[in-house]
Amino acid sequence: MAQLWGGRFTKQTDEQVFAFNASISFDCKMVHEDIRGSIAHATMLEKQGIITNEEKKAILNGLQEILQEVEEGLLRMTEKYEDVHSFVEANLIEKIGDSGKKLHTGRSRNDQVALDMRLYTRKQILSTDALLVNLMQVLLRIMEENLDTYMPGFTHLQKAQPVSLAHHFGAYVEMFRRDRSRLQDILSRMNYCPLGAGALAGTTYPLDRDYVASLLDFDGSTVNSMDSVSDRDYVIEFLSALSIIMMHLSRFCEEIIIWNSNEYRFVEIDDAFSTGSSIMPQKKNPDIAELVRGKTGRVYGALVSLLTTMKALPLAYNKDMQEDKEMAFDAYDQVQNCLVVFTGMVDTMKFRKDVMAKSAMMGFTNATDAADYLVLKGIPFRDAHGIIGQLVLYCIGENCSIEDVSLDKLKEFSPAFEQDIYEAISLETCVEKRLTKGGPSKERLLDAIAFEKKELEKHPALFL
Ligand code: ARG
Repeated sequence: MAQLWGGRFTKQTDEQVFAFNASISFDCKMVHEDIRGSIAHATMLEKQGIITNEEKKAILNGLQEILQEVEEGLLRMTEKYEDVHSFVEANLIEKIGDSGKKLHTGRSRNDQVALDMRLYTRKQILSTDALLVNLMQVLLRIMEENLDTYMPGFTHLQKAQPVSLAHHFGAYVEMFRRDRSRLQDILSRMNYCPLGAGALAGTTYPLDRDYVASLLDFDGSTVNSMDSVSDRDYVIEFLSALSIIMMHLSRFCEEIIIWNSNEYRFVEIDDAFSTGSSIMPQKKNPDIAELVRGKTGRVYGALVSLLTTMKALPLAYNKDMQEDKEMAFDAYDQVQNCLVVFTGMVDTMKFRKDVMAKSAMMGFTNATDAADYLVLKGIPFRDAHGIIGQLVLYCIGENCSIEDVSLDKLKEFSPAFEQDIYEAISLETCVEKRLTKGGPSKERLLDAIAFEKKELEKHPALFL
């Protein structure tokens, strides 16, 4: 047991208590952030005349050595230490002696962990955003290649009206664009440095908080020292944004699973992104899409878990807050893994244009257009709706589509039908005549693609 305290105690900590209290097994992930924060702190202490130049140099060298040895696997963050902060400090003192004992001047683990968590979360926000950009670029490429890949659009999972694959994918591009803008919002709200808040009430040393903030690429320092050590809003916000990303991915996965089914066969997932069965030789399963869909649950779990942990916590720091890490870190990792494999799966997926078009032609997806045709011939929409309803009923009995019915027969339903009905309800007309902004026609989709590309140019992957 290597402890940072002990002076006012007459007994050693119970071993089980030490293990229960420790966080090294998971906060070791923040060792880069911890050392980076300490380097900034020591640099500021020297600038303010709180430590000497020699002491600063020794501290910085020692910290850099620790980082290198950790990276090379020479120094292990074992259970002997309570947390990453004590690990770094104990090793620093071992390396450089008394100067190492000065590093923690004017600092508490409360503002230290608040800083580490912010730096770590900020890094994850940036890498998540970069993965969203990759995914959007793949989706835009698929859109460009599938402007005239017609397919049925669904409501209630029932065929509704024809759209194109580009239009369907465009919906997801829009969702992921909103996800990115949420990340951008969170970043701009959380990018303030809490170091210098001390345990809760600042310190009597003449710290330069804004200087530390600038060394660490923050937009400034936080305002209230008590809030600084007890705020985990940004983790909750990020988990909420991650939950929404997973909700989007799970919807997309659900559709891919349906489309990849033997019944639909709209798409074929590449062999490299599919799995087989141990017993059924014919199987090729969409496990990756299912697993992404499944992982959504644990990301929501992290959000609800942290919200519940933070509920009713009095100011300022409480040990409950150590519970912010395990589930948040897991969610950060899971979402990024999901984005990587999902992007690869979509990028390599085959689209069966013929199957999609055939499916769009069946199931009366052009019934609305047939009614609109009658409206153009002067029949009020409600009446037209009724006429086409009867026609559909007739077709179901005859096991045919509207376009298979002869003009003579059509005229029995309404004398307004003319030869031009067939053109008016062709798959192509149904899609290409939908020229409203945001609609599925090629023209509108080219606008949409141009818009999304411009947005990506305006908002490249987040960086500091
Ligand atoms: N391991 C602790 C955490 O993650 C670090 C802060 C400890 N501070 C304290 N006063 N015990 O929250």
